Amino acid sequence: MFEKMALPLMCAPMSFASSVPLAVACADAGVIAGWQGGIYTPLDEFERYLAALAETRGAPPIVNLPSRIATVETGEAKLALLEKYAAPLVLSSLGDPSRLVERVHGWGGRVVQDVTTMRHAEKALEAGVDGLMVTCSGAGGHTGFLTPFAFVPAVRRVYDGLLIVAGGIADAAGIYGALALGGDIACMGTRFIATPESGVVPGHRSMIAGTGIDRIVVSAAINGIPANWIRDSLEAVGLDAEQIAGGKIPMPEGVRGWRDTFSAGQSVALIDAVEPVADLTARLAQEFTALAPQLDWRGRLAAIETQWSN
Ligand SMILES: Cc1cc2nc3c(=O)[nH]c(=O)nc-3n(C[C@H](O)[C@H](O)[C@H](O)COP(=O)(O)O)c2cc1C
Repeated sequence: MFEKMALPLMCAPMSFASSVPLAVACADAGVIAGWQGGIYTPLDEFERYLAALAETRGAPPIVNLPSRIATVETGEAKLALLEKYAAPLVLSSLGDPSRLVERVHGWGGRVVQDVTTMRHAEKALEAGVDGLMVTCSGAGGHTGFLTPFAFVPAVRRVYDGLLIVAGGIADAAGIYGALALGGDIACMGTRFIATPESGVVPGHRSMIAGTGIDRIVVSAAINGIPANWIRDSLEAVGLDAEQIAGGKIPMPEGVRGWRDTFSAGQSVALIDAVEPVADLTARLAQEFTALAPQLDWRGRLAAIETQWSN
C-alpha cells in the first residue's frame, strides 16, 4: 500500500479545503491523499471523489469519516460506497471508532484514529484501530493541546503500530522531527490549503501565505470544539476576536463558519506562498534529502567548534 510514497507525508482531510484536484495531485505526487467525506458531503460528490482516486496509481487515499457517521442514515450509504471502491484507509475522528473498525475491516481496509490525548489513544487501541494520528498543539482545524515532543514518544511507548504525527508541520524539518520523535508519517493540513488545488475560497489560501504565527487564535466559539483560526478572517466577517475567546457565538448574517472564517494552524509561520502540489512536494522531497547531514549532530557540533576556534 505504501510502496508508491515519495515522502513519509500525508495531506490532511479538511472540511472545505479537501477537493478532488488536491487529492489526485497528492496521490500522483506520492503523498497520502486526504479527503473529508463527512456528514455534509453529498453522496454524488463522495462517489465522484472515490471514482477519481480509483484511477490514480500513486500513494493511497485516506478518507475521513467522523465516528458517529456509522450511525446516521447517509453514513451507511457512504460506508457502502467505501466498500464498493475498497477504500484502503479510513481516518476516524470525534468518537468511538468500534463500528467503523468492524465495517472497514469487513472489506480489508484499515482504520486510523485521530487522537489528541493519551486516554483517547488508549481507548482507540482497545477498539481495534490499525493506526493512530496524534494531533498535537498548533494544528489547523480542531487542534490538540499536547506538545509533540512529549505526546508522540509517550504514545510510542505503548504502541508500536502506524503513528501519524500532525500539528504545525509545514516543511522537511518538521517531517524529520515527526520521524525522530517516533512517528512513521507526518501530516500537513494548513500547508496543503496554500495550493491552487485546495477547495477553499481564494482569500483563505492567500491569508495563510500572508499571515504570521501571532495571528493564530484558538477558540471553541465557532462550533463548540477548540480550533485554530486566523484572527484577521474572524475580524473580516465582523466577529470580535476577544468575544470569540468566550463561548459559542452566532454567526453574522450570511457567514458560514469554516468556509468564511479561516482555520489555519501555527505552521502559517513557515508558509510564504501558494504553490501547486507538484512543486511543493518536489521541493519538500529535495529539502528532506538535503536535511540528512543536519541530523549528524556530532558533525554539526564539531563544525561549530571549528567555527568558534577560527
Ligand atoms: C481548514 C481545516 C479544516 C479541517 N477539517 C478537518 C476535518 O474535517 N476532518 C479532520 O479529520 N481533520 C480536519 N482538519 C485537521 C487536519 O486533519 C489536521 O489535524 C491538521 O490540519 C494538522 O495541522 P496543520 O494544519 O498545522 O498541518 C482540518 C484542518 C484545517 C486547517
